[in-house]
Amino acid sequence: MITTSLPGGTWTLGGLTVTRFGYGAMQLAGPGVMGPPADRDGALAVLRTAVELGITHIDTSAAYGPLVTNELIREALHPYPEALHIVTKVGANRDQQGGWPPARDPESLRRSVHENLETLGLDVLDLVNLRLGDATGPRPGSVAEAFETLADLQRQGLIRHLGVSNATAEQVAEAQAIAPVVCVQNMYNLAHRRDDELIDALAGQGVAYVPFFPLGGFSPLQSSVLSRVAARLEATPMSVALAWLLRRSPNILLIPGTSSAAHLRENIAGAALSLSDDDLVELDTIGR
Ligand SMILES: NC(=O)c1ccc[n+]([C@@H]2O[C@H](COP(=O)([O-])OP(=O)(O)OC[C@H]3O[C@@H](n4cnc5c(N)ncnc54)[C@H](OP(=O)(O)O)[C@@H]3O)[C@@H](O)[C@H]2O)c1
Repeated sequence: MITTSLPGGTWTLGGLTVTRFGYGAMQLAGPGVMGPPADRDGALAVLRTAVELGITHIDTSAAYGPLVTNELIREALHPYPEALHIVTKVGANRDQQGGWPPARDPESLRRSVHENLETLGLDVLDLVNLRLGDATGPRPGSVAEAFETLADLQRQGLIRHLGVSNATAEQVAEAQAIAPVVCVQNMYNLAHRRDDELIDALAGQGVAYVPFFPLGGFSPLQSSVLSRVAARLEATPMSVALAWLLRRSPNILLIPGTSSAAHLRENIAGAALSLSDDDLVELDTIGR
């Protein structure tokens, strides 16, 4: 059995045990998630610190950089510790302007899986999320062709587990009819709670929910209620936001991003904050 002293304990994604406190590596790629990194040595140090602190779940994509974040992960951590699980995603490319055009046709998805294998230095990817929607959020539409392509790559032994990202509840259900979905990675945080129902439904099925932008992403969470609760608890708003997510549902896994080892340590300590029922009632008024 794998144990951890990190807040939240562990979760099993398919057959893979991960710490509920993970690390999101996206912003290491550089400004606008386009390479080169702002501080290459600093980025390598943050990745090594994450693993030294016991984190066993790192989130990435070949689109970050593009390829830059995967290359940093490989340089910092390969050969990977057995307990470490790197989760990647496919379904979007990058353009010259730093945009994220969709790339969900079968050929692009196959190419992207191979690109992830190569840049991460792996023979098999532990978990691949199919990124849907666009920069504004999920968009309705069938995922069948794209998810069947990934299920085929899974049957070929190139992928262990599958997930979806930026997905509607209907798309999650459509994907589940094709192959098991072990996680859903959507935007969610204290102030952005569109997925409340989906989180509860997934918890009932034993499927993980991995909120991206847990701290607000490119625009940090700002709320007078959050600031008031944080001040009362003598904690930072970031700590309260992370502790709230861990409390919100047992199937929530954290992948907060940071380019600073000091912030990483601060976030781990902060996520262990204990919130009272009164704190929760007050915080609940934010995203409603
Ligand atoms: N599936 C998708 O479509 C999708 C989309 C976006 C992101 N993601 C994933 O989600 C992960 C998390 O998203 P994210 O990194 O963009 O947003 P985030 O975790 O909500 O916030 C990261 C931002 O918070 C700041 N921060 C973190 N800890 C801090 C602290 N203790 N004090 C002050 N500032 C702090 C970071 O700045 P510093 O660097 O200065 O600490 C960074 O600017 C990504 O890394 C990526 O893996 C997935």
